[in-house]
Amino acid sequence: MKKKFDLELFLNEPVSRKNGISLFHQIYEGLRRAILSKRLPSGVKMPSSRLLAKDLKVARNTVMDVYDQLIAEGFLDSKARTGTFVAENLPLELLETKRAENPAKSTISRHIAKRARVFGETSFWFTPIKNAPRAFQMGFSAIDEFPIEIWARISSRKIRTMPRKQLDYGEAQGYPPLREEIAKYLTASRGVRCETSQVIIIAGSQQGLDLIARVLLDEGDEAWIEDPKYNGAKAALLGAGAKLVHVPLDSEGLIVKKGEQLSKKARLAYITPSHQFPLGVVMSLPRRLELLEWANKNSAWIVEDDYDSEFRYEGKPLMTLQGLDNNNRVIYIGTFSKVLFPSLRLGYLVVPPDLVEDFTNALSFILFHAPMLEQLILTDFIREGHFGRHIRRMRNLYAERQKVLINAVKENLEDFLKIEKDVAGMHAVAWLKKGLNDAEIAKKALEQGVYAPPLSFYCTKVKLPDALLLGYTGIAPAEILAGVERLKGMFKSLKV
Ligand SMILES: Cc1ncc(COP(=O)(O)O)c(C=O)c1O
Repeated sequence: MKKKFDLELFLNEPVSRKNGISLFHQIYEGLRRAILSKRLPSGVKMPSSRLLAKDLKVARNTVMDVYDQLIAEGFLDSKARTGTFVAENLPLELLETKRAENPAKSTISRHIAKRARVFGETSFWFTPIKNAPRAFQMGFSAIDEFPIEIWARISSRKIRTMPRKQLDYGEAQGYPPLREEIAKYLTASRGVRCETSQVIIIAGSQQGLDLIARVLLDEGDEAWIEDPKYNGAKAALLGAGAKLVHVPLDSEGLIVKKGEQLSKKARLAYITPSHQFPLGVVMSLPRRLELLEWANKNSAWIVEDDYDSEFRYEGKPLMTLQGLDNNNRVIYIGTFSKVLFPSLRLGYLVVPPDLVEDFTNALSFILFHAPMLEQLILTDFIREGHFGRHIRRMRNLYAERQKVLINAVKENLEDFLKIEKDVAGMHAVAWLKKGLNDAEIAKKALEQGVYAPPLSFYCTKVKLPDALLLGYTGIAPAEILAGVERLKGMFKSLKV
């Protein structure tokens, strides 16, 4: 015999007006659970909405809304002139299966794509950066010095005055006036040869790397990467199914001949020629020309990551590889993460004219386009001269911070670390005294509250002398000095 509806049986808890949950939700959840647990079996006739409302002391409309919702979801059936019933033919055997345990705790392996595993197996940082001490994190800009009032002023003006149509979808390639400002800046300051039509706005260089890998590489294609390398590029290339070829460097940058020996048919080379990450080597002109020649001969692409080249402390920023390219073989990546602030997540690609459409098509399916409001604010920030001013100010500040670091290391750690002035960049390479292992020292430094990643962390095949990498741009001088003091204590405790 079918159960009759019994309120006490079906609503586990009395409906309350004080628990902050809407009456609708309490009744809906109570009835739904009762059906799922079969306390309310198929076919049971529900009381009329008027009656249930009276019993529960709620408005009839509330119960009618609950019934309508459960009917729409298939838990209840409404039969003309007879009433409302718990639905027949609910797949009870499926409902009976117990809710699976939290899969994160399960030991049973669940398939994810091989490509995606790369991301879990690759780490940007030597240790999770969120909890790492500030000194000497690498590649961080001085966010405390960012002119946030100017940004806020432009932002509020833009929100108030922009045409409403800018709330709509924008162009995948990016906001045209911003692309124009970037093209002007790159032509004047970086020696990039480009038209506005070649600039594509991306959500930071990391997204650009992913886009490049997806558009230019097929599964199994070989791609050159510098050794030591930037892990962001490694993950993006592997994530697209590429086979990495680790090419060593010398004092002139990536050794093209070595690359040719290691792989005859690479489709792409990823490089940081202005200031190699992480060694800081500047690629020589003959080597640049050799690489361009290789790309042209082999119909290969060169990906030029120009992440920190604005920060050159002597002379003018170096001309880009892209500016030397006569055969449209270079894809140039730039980012606002370093010159402005990283959470902005805006960067740009300059791609050869014949690739613009392919890149834009792909981007429209991956991102649609970068957030419009940020693009609008940034456009005015550049147009009004704040961008240029901020770079100049940061260049002086970072040169000063580098000096503080180098002097402090020379004065306090001379017996353990050799460090030299670098004319560019955001971190310094500090070579360890012979016999000290960089990974071990970096671990000990971390125990003393200092983040100083080992060079070996960035090496794949190559064996380089042991060194620590010390970022300085995002760290106030007092913190730099405190970090050096801590390192001193750590080295002293080694008794070497
Ligand atoms: C070599 C290199 N490229 C690019 C970036 C910047 O990445 P994004 O623009 O995604 O913030 C970094 C940041 O550390 C980097 O070291």
